[in-house]
Amino acid sequence: MAETLLEELKRYVGFGREDEQALRSLHGVARAHFPRIAEVFYARILEHEGARTALEGGESQVGHLKGTLENWMDQLLRGPWDEAYFELRCRIGRMHVRISLPEHYMFGAMNVLRQEFNEIIDTHYRERPQELSQVRRAFSKIVDLELAVMLHTYREDLLAQQARIERLSTFGQLVGSIGHELRNPLGVIETSLFILKGRLSSADERTIKHLDRIGEQVALASRIVSDLLDMIRDRPLKHEPVRLEEVWKSARAAIQVPAGVLVSERGLAELPEVRGDPHQLRQVFVNLLENAVQAVGESGAVTLAAALVPDGVELTFEDTGPGVRESIRRRLFEPLMTTKVRGIGLGLSLVKRILERHGGSIAYAPRPEGGSGARFVLRLPLMPKGESDATLPSAR
Ligand code: HEM
Repeated sequence: MAETLLEELKRYVGFGREDEQALRSLHGVARAHFPRIAEVFYARILEHEGARTALEGGESQVGHLKGTLENWMDQLLRGPWDEAYFELRCRIGRMHVRISLPEHYMFGAMNVLRQEFNEIIDTHYRERPQELSQVRRAFSKIVDLELAVMLHTYREDLLAQQARIERLSTFGQLVGSIGHELRNPLGVIETSLFILKGRLSSADERTIKHLDRIGEQVALASRIVSDLLDMIRDRPLKHEPVRLEEVWKSARAAIQVPAGVLVSERGLAELPEVRGDPHQLRQVFVNLLENAVQAVGESGAVTLAAALVPDGVELTFEDTGPGVRESIRRRLFEPLMTTKVRGIGLGLSLVKRILERHGGSIAYAPRPEGGSGARFVLRLPLMPKGESDATLPSAR
């Protein structure tokens, strides 16, 4: 039977019975220190401005994680280091991948553990140098195996992403040609509808109602086709001065909002011009607003807050809907990613694409104060100096 990854790794570092015994011996010594080490481990994460952002669940999450880390240390030193162990470690690794935790923090975090355990080893085995070096060696092997398993889960994810991208690219070509072919018949239907409506007497209400319905559905189909084609081909981007307030107003007028939903904005009027394509930027607002209004349902609020930041304009788009589940946040901007019954999941990927083509960005940012609701932070560069005569209001 082929060697498993764990067996291969163990063979590579020469992890054997002697190491297992040494780790079990260390377990007896270090067990009492697990709670303290877990404290140090999470205190170090919380001290670090980048790593800390992963712990968005606050104190209760940290409390839970300390418990799971104690368990993790217990298994690390007690074994058995078998396939079930490996599977469990892969599951933990995938949790880190799922929350988009950068790989380099794993090395930093493992180093904190290494320092704590090495101190215990140095102190406890000081009088027995041979045992000391055996335990040190075994410990070093097992934490490096752990790191290897963690990296393996990141690689797994990368390969899955590559496979998805390849699938999408083949699929994209197909969709492009189908979309193109569908455009003409849809156009013919639209024109014929228009002519038919002109010929009907106003008394024929039922027929008019049905023709209107056909018209709405054709418009919907055309929109899907346009979105698909926009995704596949980049329309040439205009570079003109744009007042985002006007773009927002135009997008706002295009979306039907239920009476119980309050859509508001602040800070847009004070913004200087950005450079871009007003039509495509309108699409950004339309897609975000459409999603937000759908997520909010019959009552709630959608807010757009704009501010100047040192390198451009920052727009924070929030709604009071259920928010985006953590498990899909990472793939939120991928094409064909959708949680809706209707819709094919192009809206957000198109938004991202348009913003990036403008030199900007979009990210999902959970509300800092916790609570439900989605929150997107968009950035756009300003019109370069000298190309706009707008005066800049002070930065936030
Ligand atoms: C040596 C490195 C690390 C080890 C051994 C480790 C261990 C673990 C374990 C055992 C879990 C599973 C918790 C459960 O079963 O619910 C977990 C999840 C988690 N870890 Fe780590 N961790 C490491 C590094 C980090 C770092 C550096 C961060 C943050 C910067 C972090 C943040 C998290 C978060 C947020 C979860 C929960 C994920 C979720 O609920 O989906 N971990 N970690």
